[in-house]
Amino acid sequence: MTEIIINGTQDLPRAARAFLAHKGTANVVAFYGAMGAGKTTFITAVCEVLGVRDVVCSPTFTIVNEYRDKAGEPVYHFDFYRINKLSEALDIGVFEYFDSGALCLVEWPEMIEELLPEDALKVQILVEDAETRTLLF
Ligand SMILES: Nc1ncnc2c1ncn2[C@@H]1O[C@H](COP(=O)(O)OP(=O)(O)OP(=O)(O)O)[C@@H](O)[C@H]1O
Ligand SMILES: [Mg+2]
Repeated sequence: MTEIIINGTQDLPRAARAFLAHKGTANVVAFYGAMGAGKTTFITAVCEVLGVRDVVCSPTFTIVNEYRDKAGEPVYHFDFYRINKLSEALDIGVFEYFDSGALCLVEWPEMIEELLPEDALKVQILVEDAETRTLLF
């Protein structure tokens, strides 16, 4: 188990670098955490470290946003909060994304738990207090 403590938003770039250094080879990363725990915020910080220049925001009107890192490689950001049934994830081709080998950063993975690859990296985001979050993976 790896633990990364995020001491406020100003600590996000360091925490994101530490996460990337420790995440291992998994390309699908599932972020578990309560509403408002900081999933989008942390994914944004990870994307910034990767050199993503597009504006990173929660995929509100679509299930997936596609970004490009500084090497031009795709990075996919999913938010499954609003799906009603698994078929909606299948319809967007979730397996093609997961199997592509590209980095897939997933919010609300519990909505599609049975579709996650076996080797997905599962990350818990815990709210300690207003300024502090703990990542466990
Ligand atoms: N590490 C942090 N330290 C302090 N505040 C944070 C941190 N991470 C997120 N926040 C704040 O918490 C709020 C919610 O963050 P965010 O939208 O990232 O949560 P979320 O987990 O993606 O929520 P949702 O479940 O709605 O998708 C934001 O106002 C953000 O500024
Ligand atoms: Mg979010």
